[in-house]
Amino acid sequence: MEKISYKDIGLVNTKEMFKKAMEGKYAIPAYNFNNMEQLQAIVFGCIESNSPFILQVSSGARKYANQTLLKYMAMGAVAMIREANSPVKFALHLDHGDSFELCKSCIESGFSSVMIDGSHLPYEENIKLTKQVVEFAHDHDVTVEGELGVLAGIEDDVSAEKSTYTKPEEVEDFVSRTGVDSLAISIGTSHGATKFKPEQCTRDERGVLVPPPLRFDILEEIERRIPGFPIVLHGASSVLPEYVEMINANGGKLKDAVGIPEDQLRRAAKSAVCKINIDSDGRLVMTAIIRKIFNEKPAEFDPRKYLGPARDELKKMIIRKNIEVLGSAGKAV
Ligand code: G3H
Ligand code: 13P
Ligand code: ZN
Repeated sequence: MEKISYKDIGLVNTKEMFKKAMEGKYAIPAYNFNNMEQLQAIVFGCIESNSPFILQVSSGARKYANQTLLKYMAMGAVAMIREANSPVKFALHLDHGDSFELCKSCIESGFSSVMIDGSHLPYEENIKLTKQVVEFAHDHDVTVEGELGVLAGIEDDVSAEKSTYTKPEEVEDFVSRTGVDSLAISIGTSHGATKFKPEQCTRDERGVLVPPPLRFDILEEIERRIPGFPIVLHGASSVLPEYVEMINANGGKLKDAVGIPEDQLRRAAKSAVCKINIDSDGRLVMTAIIRKIFNEKPAEFDPRKYLGPARDELKKMIIRKNIEVLGSAGKAV
């Protein structure tokens, strides 16, 4: 594939946005995308709320969308922002990169930021792999996110109590030996729509599941050890009940879906957490709207009639998140 630098596309890396987010006590939203409607919702949602953002692509998304098309979609997003006379800037970021080769390929095809996820590796191997990616990325002025600690997921047998929280005593060594620009940590968030098993939760007076609170004590200890260093939260969807209910009311079967309460994310965004990853919430919104339309209008077969409303609802959610949760609205300059 033809090599291209993100600078020629008109993207930025995460350095400046994290610096401003740290000083301004907000976080940059990192929204995952796989298709045109998600991209439209993210771009127009962030233009309307005047928010910097990170457009996040997993290796699965890269395969799904086609890596060449994806590059042109990012270029299209830059062009749309310019046409709107908006000051919004964004980074194109590889989510959960699992090898040096994948990170290199993304950097050479226009990504401005990559994550190398060595969190499942033994500590020294994580350092070695992350350092290798950092050396290549920094030669291209691309920023790198590393990870320490493992997020629990409902698919493993790991309970929140037993999940591998980030060990604060490792962060200084990891950051200085790898040279990473930001660090994803594990303080109780989790990927997907079913982040906790019911037995890990309590119930409120209405019987609604209440997840275990995030470990702000670990976050604070990390901040004390690496002051001013950008921290990242993965698995930070709130699994909004209104959309879970809409899915289930229209033939879906999402059981015990529970996410991270937005007030906890707002608190995190005011700290050294500079990037908050949101994928599942967007998936839920789109699925909810599409299910509802299929249910209410069974004769409808024009994809624009269900993908369009799904996209518009996603855009609304993004604007609200940027304003109420991330605090990033109005921060584009
Ligand atoms: O953390 C993972 C993201 O939600 C991307 O998920 O690998 O299914 O695209 P995916
Ligand atoms: P959610 O599944 O909570 O949206 O997390 C997304 C994520 O961390 C992407 O890397
Ligand atoms: Zn993630």
